[in-house]
Parts: sequence; structure tokens; C-alpha cells
Amino acid sequence: MEEVERRLSDALHRDFLFEKGRVLGSMCSKPEEIAVKYHALFSEANLGNRGLYPGTAMLEDELIADISELMHLRDGWGQFVGGGTEANITAMWIARNLSGKRKILAPESAHFSMRKAADLLAMELVDIPLTEEYVMDTDALSAAMDDDVAAVMAVAGTTELGAVDPIAEISDIAEDTFLHVDAAFGGMVLPFLEDMGMWKGDWDFRVEGVDSLSVDLHKMGMATVPSGILLLKDRRYVDSISVESPYLTTKRNIGLAGTRPSGSVAGAYAVVKTLGREGYREIVRKCMENTRYLVERMGEIGYEPVIEPIMNVVAFRTDRAEEIRAKMDEMGWKISSVRKPPAIRMVVMPYVTKEVIDGFTEALHGI
Ligand SMILES: Cc1ncc(COP(=O)(O)O)c(C=O)c1O
Repeated sequence: MEEVERRLSDALHRDFLFEKGRVLGSMCSKPEEIAVKYHALFSEANLGNRGLYPGTAMLEDELIADISELMHLRDGWGQFVGGGTEANITAMWIARNLSGKRKILAPESAHFSMRKAADLLAMELVDIPLTEEYVMDTDALSAAMDDDVAAVMAVAGTTELGAVDPIAEISDIAEDTFLHVDAAFGGMVLPFLEDMGMWKGDWDFRVEGVDSLSVDLHKMGMATVPSGILLLKDRRYVDSISVESPYLTTKRNIGLAGTRPSGSVAGAYAVVKTLGREGYREIVRKCMENTRYLVERMGEIGYEPVIEPIMNVVAFRTDRAEEIRAKMDEMGWKISSVRKPPAIRMVVMPYVTKEVIDGFTEALHGI
């Protein structure tokens, strides 16, 4: 036992935990304590077999209702999933089955999980170029629409720049085609920016044509990993992704996963209910304040952001992106690089404080 515990403690020590303050390239939150506590308490529950866990199922339903309301979805359907990847794949699975078609039109900025979706579902991913603002070029989208398009997808908070595609315009172009919005990161940022009058735009189910939306609570939701959510506009879509499940307590199993790690649901429930809208607003306000501080400090040492940050994701242009990333990595600073345009990228999560930013910019200045 001692040996096992020593190994575990050593492993934990090796990990770049957020509290060490040198991770500026992760989109995951350090979960709130209450989420960790209830995740552990509910670790036995498996929502893949909902009939055995009516209590946990009730929490899932209530939480889905809350997040649906936040995303302006009425009379829809939703489920906890493993994260943005699973949500994107599942949305494309629905679109393919409903339409019988095979093309996916996605912006070049789409998360790489879209490549997995296309490959797994034997679909064709068509990359739609970006405008100078690094959002989907709607003229190029119009030109690419044809009779074989199963789905159009757009991003509300791109992985690399935090950009938001013009979703209302995209919806008009997609017309009757299935439209999926990947708000894995932005879904728990944009509502609160809107509340504070810091951003305005159409991106969720307020846009008539949006059929599905993914949002991750393990990113800006302060919940434990994995806490993804997939929301569907029409509960009838569920039939296209469900199969008979004779040995379980429910007659049909919905979605990709069988067993679902339901500790996440209890953890996320605890954190969403205790933070509330006000709590999230304050977290987002602080992250944006620190994002502006990072832009300022980076400006002092000669770095310009690729776009004015909308949310707490920001990339700075440099031709030495990969070299800088590697050098900073050697010094223990974890950032990421962007290929197009060449840039270094940071995500200003709540654990990225002004002190962390000062230390980071000083280290960067020295290389
Ligand atoms: C916009 C977006 N979509 C999807 C994903 C994939 O999410 P996950 O890693 O939780 O599967 C990410 C991950 O960062 C993302 O930024």
C-alpha cells in the first residue's frame, strides 16, 4: 500500500497542476471544491443504466433544463457526454442519419474532433475558409452548399482565437440543412459577457436554424472532467442515435456512450447551482480583466494579438511561435502555438492571475 501511495503521490507531483501557475494553454477549469466533492460521492452511479439511478437521473434532467435555459432552448433535449469531441461526433451522426447525405461544411477553425467525426461516419469534411477576422467566410459557405450537404457547423468560441462565427448569417445560408454550433468553450462565457454588456451577437438557440449545440462544463463551467453537454432542438432527433438496450433498465440507449461517468453530473450540478449566474458572471469578468492585462503586458514587450480578444482566449502573432513554445516549455511554462497565422496562444482561465501573467511575460521577454 505504501509503495502504491508513493507512486500516486509522485505522479501527482509530476503533473502540471493548475495551482502551480504555469499552465496558460489549457481550456480546462480547475474544478470548484464542491464539484470535486460531489463527483466523488456519486462515483458509483452510471447513467447509462438510468433506471438504477433515478436520483442522479433527476439531477441530470434538472441541470440540462438549466443549461438549456441559458442557451435559450425550449422543449428540446439534452444529455451529458464526454466532452466537445463526443458532442461534435454525435451531432454529425444525427445530421447524417436524418439527411442520408454525406458532406459536413465546417470553418477551417473547427476543432480537430470534426475530422474524427467525418472519418468515423464516412462523411466528407469540407473546410470553409475564414475571413480576415478569422470567422467563417459566409460567401465561401454559400458557394459550397449543394445537394449532398448533411450538416453545417459553426463555432462560438474557436479553440485557437476564441472567435465567434456569424451564426445568424450561417443559419440563413444553411436554410433547411442541419446546423450544429460548437460552443464547447464559449457556451459558458458568452451568456455572461452578454449580461455585462461586454459582447452582443446571435449564437445560440435564439437563432432559428440552430439544431444542436455543445457546451462543456469542464471548460469555463468550473466542473470536473468530463462534463460535456449536447443539446438538441428537437427531441425527435434522438431516435436517429438510439438503439435497443434489452439488458438495461431503459429500453433504449441513446448516444455514443454506454456507461456514463455520472459523478460528473453531480459535481456539475453542485457547482452550477451554487455559483449561479452571478457567480459565473464574476468569474468571466475577472478572466476578461486578466486577458486585457495580458494583452497590455504583451504589448509592452512587442507582441500584438491576432484579433482583439472576445473571450479569454488570445493569440499573439510571431514567426517564432513553435520555437517560443518549446523554449517556454523547457522553463515549465505551458502555452500552445497556432499555425495559421503563426502565433502563440494563451487561455486566461481563473487560475491565470496577474501575478502569473507578470511571471510569464518576464520569462518570455528574456528569450
Ligand atoms: C471549440 C472546441 N470544440 C471541441 C473541443 C473538444 O473538447 P474535448 O476535448 O472536451 O473533447 C474543444 C477543446 O478544446 C474546443 O475548444
